Amino acid sequence: MSAHIGVTGLAVMGANLARNFARNGYTVALHNRSVAKTDALLQAHGDEGDFIRTESLQELVDNLQKPRRVLIMVKAGKPVDSVIEQLVPLLEEGDIVIDAGNSHYEDTRRREASLAEKGLHFVGIGVSGGEEGALLGPSIMPGGSRQSYDSLGPMLEKISAKYDGEPCCRWIGTDGAGHFVKMVHNGIEYADMQVIGEAYDLLRTGAGLEPQQQAEIFTAWNKTELSSFLIEITAEVLAHTDAKTGKPFVDVVVDSAGQKGTGRWTVVSALELGSPVSGIAESVFARGLSSQRDQRAIAQDVLTGHEEDIEVPQSFVEDVRQALFASKLVSYAQGIDMLGSAAGEYGWELKLDEIASLWRAGCIIRAELLDDIMKAYAGDSKPENLLFAPAFAEAIGAAVPAWRRVVATAVQLGIPVPVFSSSLAYYDGLRRKRLPAALTQGLRDLFGAHTYGRTDAEGTFHTLWSGDKSEVSAVDTH
Ligand code: 6PG
Repeated sequence: MSAHIGVTGLAVMGANLARNFARNGYTVALHNRSVAKTDALLQAHGDEGDFIRTESLQELVDNLQKPRRVLIMVKAGKPVDSVIEQLVPLLEEGDIVIDAGNSHYEDTRRREASLAEKGLHFVGIGVSGGEEGALLGPSIMPGGSRQSYDSLGPMLEKISAKYDGEPCCRWIGTDGAGHFVKMVHNGIEYADMQVIGEAYDLLRTGAGLEPQQQAEIFTAWNKTELSSFLIEITAEVLAHTDAKTGKPFVDVVVDSAGQKGTGRWTVVSALELGSPVSGIAESVFARGLSSQRDQRAIAQDVLTGHEEDIEVPQSFVEDVRQALFASKLVSYAQGIDMLGSAAGEYGWELKLDEIASLWRAGCIIRAELLDDIMKAYAGDSKPENLLFAPAFAEAIGAAVPAWRRVVATAVQLGIPVPVFSSSLAYYDGLRRKRLPAALTQGLRDLFGAHTYGRTDAEGTFHTLWSGDKSEVSAVDTH
């Protein structure tokens, strides 16, 4: 018996992916640096399918059908390079190495190019859905060569989540495209969680609603256009009571959010691409601020708020819901816009409708909304921005009055809503006929002769600010 696929790295994600393959009828060769983990997996779940136990990478490779498929599930960064280094000498032309971790797409591009020189396929796949998703059906975003997908795709599609029977797995594009799209998924995930947090804070501080009461509200919201996995689990977390103290669970958790880095990578990459993902960036910064606990403690004594003493009306809860929806929509729009920019930069033919389609189930940002997003990009006339698709333009437009009221109230009450407010600023910025960027250009030209364009003429100009202030035609050299 030889295996269809080998999995090395059997921590929870690797073990669950291996089990998922086996449960779907594939023979899976298992390897882990310490054999104890392999044995623990076999002991607990060995009866779920056909597994082959191996003790070394050589043994793993020897037990695979050709072309060999080896899936690596180790910590992103150096550990991935180290496994690749050990694996490559054992493989033959045409074999496929798969990295299913949250690797940086530039690493994936580098690894793909290096393995391609040796005649090997390197496929970086984004896998979303957490531990449960890995076992029961994740959303999968594979990159790498199209040819490698012919051999690997059917297996990945089989173990992936399904939406209306359709697999949540499609070939995304060459080299690092899969990991790039997964990274942006995570950026949206960060923003999605931050807007939920802002809504929670507004309802708690503004409307005085306790976590238990809010759990019911979020459950009700999950039946509206907000319907999504993250809203669903928000209700679950808010309803949870700490066994030790009897307090709401959310009140005993330290209010500093960490990150493994994919949100930060999204923002760094967006800055390089010149892509305005302000909501995603604010959500990363919000985690950063939450983690500055020393400064926050000092601020308690040093900084005053002058909050206004206002009562919020009953309609506030519904306003918050609409503001949450609008801000969420902006985060998706910004993430998707960034995908468009990256496609141009890296030569990927990213199909936005397909990407939205495979986010509809299995992944962390799965939401009812994604089916409509998919439809918005499915036709021939693709919107320049998600918000311009008629259905979304209408939906967000309807939410604007509530959105403005909520942001204004938050400011009055001193409740920080960085993503609610920056998303509204993005929306207003897009709509604005004239932006103050014209003044910025004027300033840049004055202090640094950076030049500017004119609204009424082609070309580049410079004003002789320290001379007679006449205008000359110029070439921007700065
Ligand atoms: C997923 C998740 C998963 C993980 C991220 C975010 O899609 O299954 O995105 O990959 O939760 O790494 O983790 P951090 O919040 O720690 O960055």
